[in-house]
Amino acid sequence: MKRLAFVLFAAVAAVAACLVACSGSSAPSPPPGSAPPGANGAAPTYFGEIEPILHERCTRCHQPNNLAPFSLVTADDVIPKAKWIAAAVADGQMPPMPATAEDGCPPIDDPRVMPQAERDLVKRWVDTGAALGDPKPVREPPSPYGVLGAPTHTFENPFTYDAPSSGDDDYRCFVIEHGLPAPLGVSAVGVQPGNARMVHHATVYVVPPEGAGALRKLDADDPRPGYSCFGGVGVSQAVAAGFWVPGMTAVAPPRPGLGGWLVPNWPMVVQIHYNFANGRGSDRSSIIAWQSPQIVSEIPGSLILGDWTITLPPGEKRIVRDVMGDIVSNAQAANLGQVKEGLIYAAWAHQHLLGKSFRMDLVHVDGSSQCLLHIPKWNFHWQGIYRFKDPIEAKVGERVKVTCEWDNSVEGQPFVDGKRQPPRLVTYGEGTADEMCIGTLAVMNR
Ligand code: HEC
Repeated sequence: MKRLAFVLFAAVAAVAACLVACSGSSAPSPPPGSAPPGANGAAPTYFGEIEPILHERCTRCHQPNNLAPFSLVTADDVIPKAKWIAAAVADGQMPPMPATAEDGCPPIDDPRVMPQAERDLVKRWVDTGAALGDPKPVREPPSPYGVLGAPTHTFENPFTYDAPSSGDDDYRCFVIEHGLPAPLGVSAVGVQPGNARMVHHATVYVVPPEGAGALRKLDADDPRPGYSCFGGVGVSQAVAAGFWVPGMTAVAPPRPGLGGWLVPNWPMVVQIHYNFANGRGSDRSSIIAWQSPQIVSEIPGSLILGDWTITLPPGEKRIVRDVMGDIVSNAQAANLGQVKEGLIYAAWAHQHLLGKSFRMDLVHVDGSSQCLLHIPKWNFHWQGIYRFKDPIEAKVGERVKVTCEWDNSVEGQPFVDGKRQPPRLVTYGEGTADEMCIGTLAVMNR
């Protein structure tokens, strides 16, 4: 069952295609030969140089009613926080972008990748007195969903979930009947979390008619809203279609025509992993979808490579494990730990709270290797799929290696209710206090 769950989870990444990392446009660049704005001469101003940078790099999250705790949309929002902003930008804390493009790792296509010149400019602006410059009308912030824009479809969860009074984690599945009269080709499917403080991650599955009866029975047999589920959704025919993890807002395929289908009489089910470390409350998360602008002609392939045998002894400072998978000839041959040949265009990493670093490499036939994804400082709160600027060719005979590092020492422990937890034996598992090591790649045809 677990194995199956992860095969399905692999398909998620494939259909989801590309998450927050894919959204957004690239920063406006100065004409060749010209000095960067504010680089010399006049001090930079908010309306001159800083506002465009903040709207490119920050306001997708820092806008009202969104992921970040405060807005940076207007001058009135920004000026009182100027020093704070400069500090967060200078030390690399903001924008949150855990993956590095150093050491030969592929450049990532995401507005959260902030060039050093822009960081320097923000610092210079604050150091020279954070001048306003000539006022301009307030700008609209970019869509929090990135290039996809607002979802074209929202499928409301009919139920509100109330957290139980005890237990650290809960897995709950909600059946959502989309009621579509005809097949809908989608670029992406996602989840709009109702209460992101409680939603650890959420996965959307579609269930073909032969599994729909069993699905509805599971729902009907559980007296509370939805039904209890762990690992998968309890119906073997379910096919993963999209997901949400913290730090991930939207999903965009790298080329039109890549995506999946929502089909009449295939109900959807969203499996939500709740974790109550940040408090208990109510949640009503919906399924969202983006209709494909073009007919969907290709469903991407995926690799899901993980270590299901993790054992982390208490007190140990540095534990490193790696697993290998093969590139195979086609999607039919692809199985757990394998991926079809083609163009790798996105990568996703998953560990839990004790994770320290994560790396995925493509190992060529001659034994040399090439970095696919490197997260030197794992941060559980900032996950997501990273889309590459240029897809990477993967051929039969090559292998993929996933390397995870953990810290299970006294200092490596998470805080719960403000108290650092004592180290304990940690093994593989889906609870937030267990550990995982999973690398996923999304692959399209050449
Ligand atoms: C992907 C979403 C996202 C982007 C993009 C982003 N932020 Fe944030 N920011 C957050 C969240 C969420 C927090 C709350 C603290 C946390 O979770 O790390 C935060 C916190 C902050 C803080 C407070 C840091 C502290 O010391 O607690 C500052 C300052 C900040 N952001 C500035 C910026 C600036 C400036 C940019 C752009 C250059 C930016 N952020 C881009 C999501 C984002």
